[in-house]
Amino acid sequence: MIGQAVNRVDGPSKVTGRATYSYENWEAGQPLYGVIVGATIGKGRITRIDAGSAERAPGVRMVMSHHNAPEQGPRDESVPMEYWRAQPALTGPDVHHYGEPVALVVAETFEQARAAAELVDVDYAVGQGRFLLAGHEGEAYAPKTVNAGLATDTAVGDFDAGFSSAPVKIDQYYTTPYELSMPMEPHACLAEPRGEDLIVHVSCQIVDAARASIAATLQTDPERIHIVTPFVGGGFGSKLGIHAETILAALAARASGRPVKVALTRQQVFQLVGVRPTSNQRVRLGAGRDGRLSALAHDVTMHTNPDMEYAEQTAATTRSLYAAPHRLTSHRLTPLDLPRGSDVRAPGEAPGMLAVESAMDELAEALGMDPVELRIRNEPTVDPERDVPYSDRHLVDCLREGARRFGWERRPVPPASMRDGRWLVGYGMSAAIRGHFQGPTAVRVRLTADGTAVVQSDMTDIGTGTYTILTQVAADGLGLPRERVRVELGRSEHPSSWGSGGSWGATNSSTATYRACAALREKLLAAACGDTRSPLYGLDPANAVFAVGGVRIGGMSEALSEIVARHAPEGMEAEGRTRFMGDDPHYSAYSIHTYGAHFAEVGVDADTAEIRLRRMLGVFSVGRVLNAKTARSQLMGGMIWGAGAALEEEAVVDPRTGAFVNRDFAQYLVPVHADIPDVEVVVLDGYDDKANPLGAKGVGELGICGSGAAVANAVFNATGIRVRDFPITLEKVL
Ligand code: MOS
Repeated sequence: MIGQAVNRVDGPSKVTGRATYSYENWEAGQPLYGVIVGATIGKGRITRIDAGSAERAPGVRMVMSHHNAPEQGPRDESVPMEYWRAQPALTGPDVHHYGEPVALVVAETFEQARAAAELVDVDYAVGQGRFLLAGHEGEAYAPKTVNAGLATDTAVGDFDAGFSSAPVKIDQYYTTPYELSMPMEPHACLAEPRGEDLIVHVSCQIVDAARASIAATLQTDPERIHIVTPFVGGGFGSKLGIHAETILAALAARASGRPVKVALTRQQVFQLVGVRPTSNQRVRLGAGRDGRLSALAHDVTMHTNPDMEYAEQTAATTRSLYAAPHRLTSHRLTPLDLPRGSDVRAPGEAPGMLAVESAMDELAEALGMDPVELRIRNEPTVDPERDVPYSDRHLVDCLREGARRFGWERRPVPPASMRDGRWLVGYGMSAAIRGHFQGPTAVRVRLTADGTAVVQSDMTDIGTGTYTILTQVAADGLGLPRERVRVELGRSEHPSSWGSGGSWGATNSSTATYRACAALREKLLAAACGDTRSPLYGLDPANAVFAVGGVRIGGMSEALSEIVARHAPEGMEAEGRTRFMGDDPHYSAYSIHTYGAHFAEVGVDADTAEIRLRRMLGVFSVGRVLNAKTARSQLMGGMIWGAGAALEEEAVVDPRTGAFVNRDFAQYLVPVHADIPDVEVVVLDGYDDKANPLGAKGVGELGICGSGAAVANAVFNATGIRVRDFPITLEKVL
């Protein structure tokens, strides 16, 4: 069952509208509606808030500002992961970035709340904001660590000596813009008070973090907070933590004693949930004439909000990508008065690979060497910075298989040498690599007397396919038909998980499910083989085979439902767990990643420089695939996001106010169907026994890693013009 291209088990409920998302929930009865009023300056202080007209407007029940907002827990930097920390809102008159909430207007209807929000009168003392990275480079500082607790800087060998003596050198700067996660479902919350308790329907990626964070903010016992989020309309990082809409809904629900709904508008999503930091990346490559790298450096400067530090691990995976004896990586932060940086779709690799894999293409060009061959020549035998073996590295297999399938040998070698009518045609490629993470996740599997298995975890399904793959893993683990497995997710009363993020969700929750099933099989066998009433009495459990809803030993068999009915009529259950990677010896003994190779063909209009993608191919190695269909969808989605990063996606800052000026989907461009032609996804058969007992690794973010560089390199091959300032919009190519 594991690996099959099973259709989504939650598909019918979604396409028929029976799947309820957080804001759509009506069970709570008639709710109040909250609308957030955002600051219209980027830096400064509120000097006066007049909420009188808003409070007197029809239907208004409450206007909350820093004058009357309840006291909230402070962010506690000692909490190891930021998503579990308090997220106080409306705490004081200071404005840290444009759009920051300054008030919440609560009314009987959404329209009344929205109308009254217009009446809240706010005066500001405008401060001197820093809104552009340029001009503030001197203020950059080194954070203690970067995202995921990784080292800020690394140095191996003697980079300066290695680089200066290299016969062929590349030394270039690449910039990447602000990008946003932009899930289809904007961030939303319905908070419902029930006695001392609060039921919180919130669109989030990590239920345990949501509960801890809300409890810490409200300074209440986490047991009093109940998260319900069975369906989530995408996350892409922006729902790893919770945001102002959730905290404000919770505060207003407590203050009013009524259910309160707050949703961000799409425009507010641009200001309030965190952005991928803009980056300025210097890449230096020194190589011999044979293409072997002797020196490799990746130095990154990014923005951070001074109030909430975030350092993307943009150069971290470069540490494991290619062999080179002399190496440097570094991360620096420049404080700007902009929304805080946050995890967005493959934090680290997505912008980092744009720079490094563009630079590798520049090196291949300087050497007159095939870019695929250059990468193969720099394949390391052990992790070059950690000096530990790779668990299961198939980068070269991906490169070779991709080149063969794509017809790479037809690449026009001199740039700008292939024409198709008015189109200049180019081929580009890139390697892909993504770190593999594991966190503590628990899953409970319960077998009922009617022979149904119920799988429970607070794990989320953010559109990725969790319901489906856990159904497959449990059906496989207990020998049940798929229809006899029910998966229940997204509720804080279920065993807690690390949620969906970092491409770890599927492997954590599947491994925990696999282990729960193994423990449950043992319980069933102990019960049956030790029971004189069972046909399996006295037989050796080591020979047991679980299939078609029963267990067979030799010629004897018994239905699981009968074993349960006799021994535990209320149901028999077991839990399975994964542990934090820092406590797992495999994670220190091996360098564990997923890999891939991207190939792209573009056409560039010879007169207008319009860039059209013609085809893309990705070949990936991810260990064992849990569901061929959902894995392919994830990888394809990532490749498309990468194409968007190369050509379209960019949030632009207004230098006067620090607002993002293009804050809707009309102006913040992401690929649409017409932008994306033929995308082919190939996944190599695999099994990584160091990752987990299923041999599976994450796929969610691998597709975006490097795919933008393949497109960028194809643009160079088509035109001979190298754009290092992403995205590659046509005016940069003209
Ligand atoms: Mo992902 S950016 O860790 O949700």
